Formats: sequence, C-alpha cells, structure tokens
Amino acid sequence: MKQTKENESLFAVLVVDDAPDTVELMRRNLEHDYRVYTASTVSQAIELLDSRHIDLVITDMKLPEHSGFDLIRHIRENLKETEVIMVTGYASIEGAVKAVKAGAVEYLAKPFTAEELYGAVVRSIEKLKTRKARNMPADLSQTSFGGLIGESGVMLSVFETIRKAAATPATVLITGESGTGKELIARAVHYNSARSKAPFVPVNCSAIPEQLIERELFGYVKGSFTGAQETRAGFFQVADGGSIFLDDIAEMPLQMQVKLLRILQEREIVLVGARRSISVDIRVIAATNKNLPDLIRQKLFREDLYYRLNVITIDIPPLRERGEDIFLLTNYFFAKYAKTTGRAVPTITDEAFQILKSYNWPGNVRELENLIQRFVLLSEGGVIDIPDLPTLMRFSAVSGRSGYNRTLAEVETEYIQHVLESVQGNKTQAAKILGIDRKTLRQKLPEE
Ligand SMILES: Nc1ncnc2c1ncn2[C@@H]1O[C@H](COP(=O)(O)OP(=O)(O)OP(=O)(O)O)[C@@H](O)[C@H]1O
Ligand SMILES: [Mg+2]
Repeated sequence: MKQTKENESLFAVLVVDDAPDTVELMRRNLEHDYRVYTASTVSQAIELLDSRHIDLVITDMKLPEHSGFDLIRHIRENLKETEVIMVTGYASIEGAVKAVKAGAVEYLAKPFTAEELYGAVVRSIEKLKTRKARNMPADLSQTSFGGLIGESGVMLSVFETIRKAAATPATVLITGESGTGKELIARAVHYNSARSKAPFVPVNCSAIPEQLIERELFGYVKGSFTGAQETRAGFFQVADGGSIFLDDIAEMPLQMQVKLLRILQEREIVLVGARRSISVDIRVIAATNKNLPDLIRQKLFREDLYYRLNVITIDIPPLRERGEDIFLLTNYFFAKYAKTTGRAVPTITDEAFQILKSYNWPGNVRELENLIQRFVLLSEGGVIDIPDLPTLMRFSAVSGRSGYNRTLAEVETEYIQHVLESVQGNKTQAAKILGIDRKTLRQKLPEE
C-alpha cells in the first residue's frame, strides 16, 4: 500500500495483484503519468477505495481470499465513476466473460506488453474524461468521432463510413499502415453500434502462437488434449453479442482462415474436441497493414475469406497524405498530455510546425503522439523550436538545401534510430514500420 506521487492533478490508479513482481512492473510503467496505489488483496483494495478517490482499478482475476471478480462487483455497486481493467491469463478466459458482464470495460490478456497496458489505461482514463466533460466545444464535435481526430477530407469520409458501418451488422475490414488508427476505428465502429453494451474483444492474431490459436479463439472441451482439465470458452464466446477485433489478420495461419470463413458463413463455432457446434452472435472487425490482394496472389491468404471480410472496407491513409490533420492532432495531443500530466501546454513556433507538416511520418499518428507527449514532458510549457525537434526530422527539412553528401548506410542507420525513437525503443513495432523482421533489425543495429 504505497503511494508514488503526490501531484493532486494526476489521475489515481489502483493496481491489485498478489504477485509483487507484477505490481512493481505496472507501477514502474504507470507512475510517471499517474498516481499509483497498490494492494495485494481484495480487502486491502476496498479499504483504499473507501479512503480516497480512485479513478481506475486494474485488478488480477486470481487473488487470495476473494477474487478480482468480487472486487469488480463491489466497485460497480458502490463506485459508479471508477473505471476497471481486468487482467487475465489466456487460461482463464472464462473469467473474462464474467468480468465483461460484471462491468469491467477493458480487459488485458496476459502476457501483455508495457504498450498494451499503457494503451488500456489511457483508454479507460479517456472514457472517464469524456463522461466528465459534458460540454465539448461545438467545433470539436465536427472534427472528432469516437476518439478519432481529423479534419482532412479523407478523415471526414472515414467518420462517415464508420457511422454507416456501425448502423449495420456487416463485417468490416480496416487497412492502413502501422499507427494510422486502425484499432481506434474498430472501437468507434463497435461503440457506435447497437452492440455497444456488449463486449469489444481485441485479439492480436500475430501475438498468439500458431499451435494455440485455435483453442484461444474457439475454446476447448475437457480432455480434448493433455492438460485440458476443464472446458474453456474462447475469444469468440467472450465476444458473443458484441464485436471481435481480429488485428493483424494477415498473420492468421491458412488452416485457421478456413475455420474463420466457416464462422462468417454459419455463425457457429466448434470448441476444440467438441462434436457439436454452438451458435454465436458476433460482428467481426479485421485489420491489417499488409496488402491482402498481394498475399492472395502468393497463396498466403484465402481469396474467399478476403471477400467475406471486406463487406465494408475502411482504408485509412498514412499521415503524410493528410497533412491537414497535423495541426488539429498536434493541439489535441498537447491538450491531452498536458491534462493527464498536469503540465502546461507548450507552444510551437511556425517554423518548427512547418517541419512537422512536411515530415513523412513513417510511424504515422502514433509517432506524432509520442513526439508531442515528449514535448509536453520536457518543455515545461515553454516554446518548441526547430532545435527541439529530433535530428532526422530537422535533417529531412534541410536536406534539400545542404546537398547530397551522405552514404546510404549513414542514412539507413539514422533512419532506423529515428524510427526506434518514435516508438520508444519497441523493436517489434519498429521492425513493423520498417517492413523488415526483428532479426534483420537486430543485425542492422550497433552492438549493445
Ligand atoms: N485520428 C486519430 N486521432 C487521435 N488519435 C489517433 C488517431 N489515429 C491514431 N491515433 C492514436 O495513435 C496511436 C496508434 O493508433 P492505433 O493503435 O489505432 O493504430 P493501428 O493502426 O492499430 O496501428 P498498428 O498497425 O501498429 O497496430 C494510438 O495511441 C491512437 O490513440
Ligand atoms: Mg493496431
């Protein structure tokens, strides 16, 4: 039971877990931006909740004495304003079904990355803020939709397509480069649809090992393989009544693609080891940063599945093709991070802003968001000028004037460093942006 920060303007997060390592890890990830409290049992957590204001509770399912599920029930009955994130192992997905029904809006499947944890926390806090801020300025309501910001023609038409998609039960395919906002779009479709009260279940197809993907998606019956001691629900059952978001769909193994096609046609799933199918009522939303027609030509993606998935397609262009959005996004992220960190909003000079506008943003909105977040933390409300911009951004702005005098290798190394910086050192994410695998990326990096 330790409080990390005293700053009253920060949002308060309570982490409940009986594993000290997990608690420490979460604390380290969050304490920079939030006031973090911790508890190792449900009674400790309730004591804390009774004695101070907590904005968000992140709780494990399995706890000594009472379960995380009991804690969620307590919160839902007594603390309407508090958001909850449920942490659960893949093995206890059944618990996730219960949790979602008990009112834990977000859940995180173990193992999760620091980025996923942070993302879930930011989303919950955003939800809380939206609830609090009833008086949104009128002009923002024109240029924002379900957490997406944009005023370019393409973004306005993306908002329109989301609205249309939300009004139908049709399958949606979202395509676009890494960091363009595909997951935000998927959430906007779900939360603006008639299914908004039912779960939105994100599944990252590239994060689940191939041999586990079938049982994770469809569940399994007791005794169907060694170690299957009980019957378990899969993600599709968790999402029943709501939407399942199949992220990185191109990574789905071919034999699973056949099974997915069957679900889309029959709306039925078969648990691993089961004889009969059960029907599910689900909207499927899929996303990819790959070119699926190319993969179809290479026989890596099924054509019939492709046509089933892209009943409605939302193609989100890279940020460099919608420079008109940069101004709005920059101000939005300035305000967002100034508020969550309790710091003053910095100002940016016209010259520096022109560089942001002409830069090519390989990491798209995610890269811009990370940059602005850093500005808010480092600038203390001051003025941001050209020297404060990352080296490569400055270089790309002056390269036209300074002539061509660098080797390919130099440019490559600098570019890689820059992309890595833009995703805060996350190599998986950087490799994705660069279009190479992690191994190649490691080879190109200087020895650590
Ligand atoms: N139009 C937007 N308005 C506000 N925030 C945005 C917008 N687009 C993206 N973001 C933010 O940028 C980050 C990346 O977005 P998101 O995770 O949805 O991208 P993605 O396309 O799913 O990326 P990836 O392919 O790498 O998974 C998130 O923090 C998201 O909130
Ligand atoms: Mg994504």
